[in-house]
Amino acid sequence: MDIFNLIWPNLPDLKDVKIDLARESDASPIGLLSRKYIETGLPGWVWDPSKVLHAIQDPDSMVVVTRRQDSINAAAILQFGRKTAQLNLLVVAVDFQRTGIGSCLLRFMENAAYLYGKSLLNLEVRASSDSALRFYRALGYRQTEIVQGYYQTGENAVRMSHRIVTQPSAKIPLSSAP
Ligand SMILES: CC(C)(COP(=O)(O)OP(=O)(O)OC[C@H]1O[C@@H](n2cnc3c(N)ncnc32)[C@H](O)[C@@H]1OP(=O)(O)O)[C@@H](O)C(=O)NCCC(=O)NCCS
Repeated sequence: MDIFNLIWPNLPDLKDVKIDLARESDASPIGLLSRKYIETGLPGWVWDPSKVLHAIQDPDSMVVVTRRQDSINAAAILQFGRKTAQLNLLVVAVDFQRTGIGSCLLRFMENAAYLYGKSLLNLEVRASSDSALRFYRALGYRQTEIVQGYYQTGENAVRMSHRIVTQPSAKIPLSSAP
């Protein structure tokens, strides 16, 4: 059984795109998606290729992409904590938005988090990102806090979380577990 079937036995069909684990060579395109669609207008580049590469190599993170032929059109980065998981990145290229890719990646990460023994998924969204806030609310995420001046421009972040109730098919151990 491959990891995708283990994490989500009934993974929906995404038509033209295929969900896949990120490879090291995907670090640059993922970083560019973040720069273009999430970090727009912010000084610096937080999720640059080297940070994405670090997440791809980190045994306590999971980096998932969707591909169409050789190009990457969406990515998600999840980091496992002791009891919770943090969604560090979720981005879908504009031509592929509103086709269900974002919700599929998010549900996939929720399943993965549950499978790894986490019951809560946390994330931060730019307060100015109306579409992302609507997206997360539509998927059941609730605001827990406004973090003042979270971004370098002084922009606030909205901290959101979601209790994971997905029933996994099996439990697999965390890489760092004994
Ligand atoms: C936010 C984002 C991840 C959503 O991914 P997506 O694949 O476009 O979303 P989906 O197609 O799965 O949408 C699921 C539901 O979320 C809601 N939603 C998504 N985008 C929305 C928007 N722009 N406005 C209002 N509601 C929206 C809708 O309820 C939608 O269901 P519907 O299309 O049947 O109405 C994607 O648009 C994106 O990457 N945006 C830019 C980057 C960003 O802001 N990322 C999150 C910051 S951490």
